[in-house]
Amino acid sequence: KEPLRIALAGLGTVGTGVIRLFEANRQMIEARAGRPLKIVAVSARDRGRDRGVELSAYDWYDDMGEMAALPQVDAVVELVGGSDGPALALARKTLEAGKALVTANKAMIAHHGLSLAKTAAANGTSLKFEAAVAGGIPVVKGLREGAAANAIERIYGILNGTSNYILSAMEETGADFAQMLSDAQELGYAEADPTFDIEGVDAAHKLAILAAIAFGCRIDFDAVKTQGISDVRAADIRQAAALGYVVRLIGMADTEMQDDTCKLFQEVRPCLVAKSHPLAAVSGATNAVVTEGNFSGRLLFQGAGAGDGPTASAVVADIIDLARGERSAPFSVPVEELVEMPPADTGDRLGRTY
Ligand code: HSE
Repeated sequence: KEPLRIALAGLGTVGTGVIRLFEANRQMIEARAGRPLKIVAVSARDRGRDRGVELSAYDWYDDMGEMAALPQVDAVVELVGGSDGPALALARKTLEAGKALVTANKAMIAHHGLSLAKTAAANGTSLKFEAAVAGGIPVVKGLREGAAANAIERIYGILNGTSNYILSAMEETGADFAQMLSDAQELGYAEADPTFDIEGVDAAHKLAILAAIAFGCRIDFDAVKTQGISDVRAADIRQAAALGYVVRLIGMADTEMQDDTCKLFQEVRPCLVAKSHPLAAVSGATNAVVTEGNFSGRLLFQGAGAGDGPTASAVVADIIDLARGERSAPFSVPVEELVEMPPADTGDRLGRTY
């Protein structure tokens, strides 16, 4: 059978994870894909770096953009990161060439997912981004496919592992935010510049993508009301505990009728979560997403939201879909049918508890 020929851009944690996954599970994933899967080209910033994986079997490209035009490439996997710049240029070039794009890039999808999905549709190809939301948790597929028959009433969850590690470690040790942040950095959870993690931006990227899938609306990242955890004090966590709650950074989206119009509410903020709620038991660098469907009831998706293995698992699941010829729209409805949903007017409403 004809192989699916793949170009891999970005050989950091996730890119090398993809190569290791191919090495470890090749026979099984090819059986499931129904045809051989072949990485034919790779690109990354520093060719000389030892990444602990064997790269000699792949053609190396210093200019990743070149890979999009290669006739021997069917699909490009973008693991470079950044909402714009080289990642976006590569994504556009790939889709314009009629080749499929798999990406783990939440910032790029949150900002440009709609235009990329339009380009994919116009060129008869696929855009896939399971790995962009909550790493190894198959929540994009879970929502788009598993829960496809439901009206989703609300979607919410813990969408940033670094913040969750910090909050749950503050709870366990009584230490303050700054101490736990530096522990998270030492453990490699938080980025050297952890702003997007602790200020809620990374969670907002993921929430905006999930909301679009859940409600069939256009992604509106700018409308997410976002507050991070840098002001949460050890004393806040102690007081919450005394009242039977833990503090978690929760991203939540739902819809409400205002002025006869269906409006979208999206927020990321530290919230009180009752100790009896399943999200209260989610500690460490873990993600968890709750959906409430009108027929499915409450579903909880939980697991590692980052890291090489889990994120590579989601990337390769998308590659297997492509190899199988799966051509579904990246959101729950075709891109031209995604509705524009204005942001709900929230005023100064009280924070929610869960
Ligand atoms: N830095 C993110 C987190 C992982 O801590 O969850 C990728 O979004």
